[in-house]
Amino acid sequence: MDFEFDVFRLGELTHGQPLYYLSMHLLQYYGLIEHFNIDVDVAKAFFREVEANYRNLSYHNSYHAADVLQTVNLLLLSDPQMAQNFTKLEILAACIASAVHDVDHPGVNNNYLIQSSHPLAILYNDLSVLEYHHASKAFEIMQKPGTNIFAKFPNDQKREIRKQMINMVVATDMSQHFTYINKLKSKISAAALKLQEAPDRALVLDMAIKCADLNNPAKSLEACKLWAFRIMEEFFQQGDRERLNGLNVSMFMDRKETNIPKCQIGFIDILVTPLFESWSQCIATDFTRLCMKNIALNRSHWESILDKPDAIPTFHPPDAHILEQELFATTGSPATLKKKLISMQKTGGSGDTSPDTFRQRGKGNSLNTKGKSPVGPISKNFQKPSLRSEPSRPIPEDGSRNTLFAKPDNKQSAVTPRMGRRTSGVVEMINPIKASALGRNLPELPKSDSSSDGAP
Ligand code: CMP
Repeated sequence: MDFEFDVFRLGELTHGQPLYYLSMHLLQYYGLIEHFNIDVDVAKAFFREVEANYRNLSYHNSYHAADVLQTVNLLLLSDPQMAQNFTKLEILAACIASAVHDVDHPGVNNNYLIQSSHPLAILYNDLSVLEYHHASKAFEIMQKPGTNIFAKFPNDQKREIRKQMINMVVATDMSQHFTYINKLKSKISAAALKLQEAPDRALVLDMAIKCADLNNPAKSLEACKLWAFRIMEEFFQQGDRERLNGLNVSMFMDRKETNIPKCQIGFIDILVTPLFESWSQCIATDFTRLCMKNIALNRSHWESILDKPDAIPTFHPPDAHILEQELFATTGSPATLKKKLISMQKTGGSGDTSPDTFRQRGKGNSLNTKGKSPVGPISKNFQKPSLRSEPSRPIPEDGSRNTLFAKPDNKQSAVTPRMGRRTSGVVEMINPIKASALGRNLPELPKSDSSSDGAP
């Protein structure tokens, strides 16, 4: 089985919309659209909107979300026996939670929002501020006409999937990292993890999204380095903002002081290895074993360049005016935020049509003016692929703008009938099982949701 997944290649193939294509593909691949009688156009509108609400940041962008989605897919579902444990509602919740888990990320962390008394920190009482914002943003998107993917769900099912999605998104808050690991470990050591029981499956889903969120050191060395440099670029910009605003510069965010290999080794040793170790004790699949192997290899690489500054690209600070901009274009006081939400619920729409209050679609965000990357090129040897070269421009049905989409492939289109041949190049990349084996070897999702499965 081939687990290689190059989200940047997928981004090229889909003209900067890897998340939209991957989400639609997986929902169809696992028969979720059909099972839950989801309107395909509504699902498409929802995922397009989700992708458009990711900013053009170096790390927390829609490519990261697509990567997390695919990794959750590999962690949970690449092994058919494992996949059988989960209900369709859980699989759907896992897919959507992964897709939205960082939506509208501003490029700074919770600590920054709390330290700067940002209105979102006030709104969420300093607790999982960004994670609650991402989850809330997902449901805010669903309030827009034609995007409510759960519109036809019975109420109990709506409540259940909302709960599971929120739990999964909130599980990505690193402040609770060891609580989750310890929960899983104590279940494993007491031989008490029972996947027949819903709370245990919920814990496994939480752990899956956590592993996926931290999976960059578990990738091939090239991909590991690329994502590591991307997160460091974002960290350094947060450090610049902190300095500008008179806050203490956070650890590993000072571009002048930080030793990147040291930071990566610390990240691997303290956060990543314990997480993947607990996961592999719980679910020992080929993919999990590959992750563990890569983590060890990548750690050795960072160690081998600990004292070799030439092996690290140069990072350039952004223009000061970019750092001075407000993080959330739509943010006012917490009271304004609440009012906006209530008015949206009443109108069933965005609630505020002032052009200034909306993100410029496809042009990134408040950090990213004129559609340019908020930072200059990092170095000669680190080419940061541009993420949205042709933002939200629809690809013609015949795939004529991209020859890779032009060749119909019967086996593949059988898997994604409604995506049609446009996605044939995409399908090849993102299926955990090689295209030649498709149809024979699809992971089964036989279990029905006993409590709330009202789908036809
Ligand atoms: P967030 O996406 O909020 O949650 C997971 C965190 O892990 C992420 O923010 C970063 O702070 C951190 N992270 C992810 N990848 C790396 C990396 N390669 N090096 C250091 N920190 C990382």
